[in-house]
Amino acid sequence: PSVVIYGVPTDIGCAHRGASMGPEALRVAGIVEKIARRGITVEDAGNLTGPHNPLQGPVDGYRHLQEVTAWNRAAFDKSTEILADGKLPIMLGGDHCLGIGAIAAVADHCRAQGKKLRVFWLDAHADFNTSEASPSGNIHGMPVAVLCGLGPDALVNMGKTAPALTPDQVRQIGIRSVDRAEKQLVKQHDLDIYDMRYIDEIGMRRVMDEALEGIDDDTHIHVSFDVDMLDPSIAPGTGTRVPGGVNYREAQLMFEMLADTGRVGSVDIVEVNPALDKRNATARLAVALMESLFGKSTLVRE
Ligand code: ARG
Ligand code: MN
Ligand code: MN
Ligand code: MN
Repeated sequence: PSVVIYGVPTDIGCAHRGASMGPEALRVAGIVEKIARRGITVEDAGNLTGPHNPLQGPVDGYRHLQEVTAWNRAAFDKSTEILADGKLPIMLGGDHCLGIGAIAAVADHCRAQGKKLRVFWLDAHADFNTSEASPSGNIHGMPVAVLCGLGPDALVNMGKTAPALTPDQVRQIGIRSVDRAEKQLVKQHDLDIYDMRYIDEIGMRRVMDEALEGIDDDTHIHVSFDVDMLDPSIAPGTGTRVPGGVNYREAQLMFEMLADTGRVGSVDIVEVNPALDKRNATARLAVALMESLFGKSTLVRE
């Protein structure tokens, strides 16, 4: 289908600033042109607007809950509109709290269309904290828990489908940082986590085979790509870097295998922080991976 790209220039869900510049960095890296070169119709719908970052500490375990809600509402509305048009939304974050609004919209859309939804959460972090479990109060560490129904009403009830997801719809890949109390939560909720050790032991090819198992013609795949999944040596431009991440070839294989399904229906690219980057390397790599996701391959002719 045709693609609509929109930017959500905020770092409201984290403690440090800079992810608000992500959308422009991805555009400068050529995201629109390079996807269009795949023969796909791409529209750049510009950026959403929302409240400034007040840079306050957590209140009742949440930093900036009201502002996070406003930005997510805007993302929810935009993704809802794009999906209703029969198009594929690519949300350029912004930090990963925005996955709440974007995926809540996809969940409603899938329910209305009678489609199954599977979410690929590509990340160094499980993002499954609650206000009690979180060491930081940063909501970008909570979106998966919120989408599964654990969190404040304003976020859990973003869409009509609440909770938006059940844990069995989620596949997390690249994980290597889970907080102490968060570990208990992911175990309790039986999240399907392909951590770095598992990737090292069985290889990315088999990880993806397992994570893609059961995908059929009635499945909508949502890819939520936190660039900190990648090893910091190739993707330094992000706020919560963790060593020992996914390398270039593993990442390329992941996106190629997702492309091969033909079932990708929505995408987020989040946590690109140009203030921490080296010559926009992280945005450029994210764009190269989007080319793979939209069908670029070495030998198959288009
Ligand atoms: N687990 C940490 C926290 O909750 C870090 C989360 C990082 N999340 C992200 N989307 N980069 O504060
Ligand atoms: Mn994340
Ligand atoms: Mn992360
Ligand atoms: Mn961040």
